[in-house]
Amino acid sequence: MRIFVDDGSTNIKLAWKENGEVKTFISPNSFKPEWSLNLFDDGQSANYEIEGEKFSFDPGSADAVVTTETRYQYSQVNTVAIHHALLQSGIEPQVVDVVVTLPLSEYLNADFQPKTENITRKKKSVKRDVTLQGNRQGFTIDKVTVLPESIPAGFNVLTGLQDDDSLLIVDLGGTTLDVSHVRSKMSGITNTWCDPKIGVSIITNGIKNALAGHTRISSLQADNIIVHREEKDWIEHRLPDARLRQAVMNTMEEKERILTNRVVDTLDRFTGYTHVMCVGGGAKLIADAVKKATNVPSDRFFTSNDPQFDLVLGMLEMKEGSAND
Ligand SMILES: Nc1ncnc2c1ncn2[C@@H]1O[C@H](COP(=O)(O)OP(=O)(O)OP(=O)(O)O)[C@@H](O)[C@H]1O
Ligand SMILES: [Mg+2]
Repeated sequence: MRIFVDDGSTNIKLAWKENGEVKTFISPNSFKPEWSLNLFDDGQSANYEIEGEKFSFDPGSADAVVTTETRYQYSQVNTVAIHHALLQSGIEPQVVDVVVTLPLSEYLNADFQPKTENITRKKKSVKRDVTLQGNRQGFTIDKVTVLPESIPAGFNVLTGLQDDDSLLIVDLGGTTLDVSHVRSKMSGITNTWCDPKIGVSIITNGIKNALAGHTRISSLQADNIIVHREEKDWIEHRLPDARLRQAVMNTMEEKERILTNRVVDTLDRFTGYTHVMCVGGGAKLIADAVKKATNVPSDRFFTSNDPQFDLVLGMLEMKEGSAND
C-alpha cells in the first residue's frame, strides 16, 4: 500500500486510495518530548519511542516541541508525527510505502535541480523505526519517495495548460510561504522562492502574545481560533472575557494584514506567469489579495474549497493518475 504524506510543519496531511476511492486525513503536530499518562487505556495510546527517545501526542501542551523550523524536516518528532497520523487514519497497521515532501528550499538547488543529499537524508529520517508503548502493532515504512512542496499541487491545472502558459503556485502553510512558477505540463520550473518566516504562524504567534499574561495556549489551540474566527459562538465560548476577546480579534486583523502584505511583496519577484493558484491552509486568508496583485482574469485564478489538501492530492494524482479510477 502506498500513502501520500504532506508532512508540513503544523499538520500532516494524508491521501491514499482505497478500492479506487481517494481518502484523506489530517493530523496536527503537537508533541511533547516525554510520555503522557494514559489513565483510560482506550487502545489509542499516543506514546512513541524512536532511537531511545520518548514522545507523546499532546494537543493542549503549550510546551509542544517546535516543529516550525527547517531542522524539523529531518527530526525524530517529524517521523513520530508521520506514524501518529498513519495510526489515527483508520488504516490497518502494516508495511507501507510513503511519498513525503520537503520544502522547495530543501528540495531544489540554485539550478532548480533536486538536492540529492537532502533527499537521501529525508528518506533515512522517515525510515527510522517508531515503536508504540506496550508493544502495540504499528506501521513499518518501507520505500520512501520525496517530492517538493507546492509544485505537485498544481498538477491538474498544469496538465490542462497550453504550451506557452505557466502557473504561479502560492502555497501558504503554517510557517512557510513556498512560491513556484512552473511551465505547462510540468515541463520546467521558471523560478521559485521560499520564505520560512512567512506563514499563518504570524497570526498564531500574535494570538498567543495577546493572551500572554492571561493564559498560555498551544499553537494548535491558537490555530483553532484562526480557523473558527468567523464563528461568533465558538469564539465567545473559548474567550468569554469581552476585552480579551476584542484584543485577540484586533490582533488577528492586524496580523492578517501584515501577512497578506508580505505575501504580496514576495510576488513582485515573479513575472510572466499566465495562471495563478493559491494552496495551503492559509490560502483563504490571502486569495483575494493575491488575485488582485497578480491581476489575472477570474478563469485563470484557482483556489479550491479545501486548499490544505491540494498538495497531497496533487501528489497522489501525479503518481497514481486521475483521482478516482
Ligand atoms: N480555514 C482556515 N482559515 C485560515 N487559516 C487556516 C484555515 N485552515 C487552516 N488554517 C491555518 O493553516 C495553517 C496550516 O496550514 P498547512 O496545513 O498548509 O500548513 P503546513 O503544511 O503544516 O505548514 P508548512 O507548509 O508551512 O510547513 C495553520 O496555521 C492553520 O491555522
Ligand atoms: Mg505545507
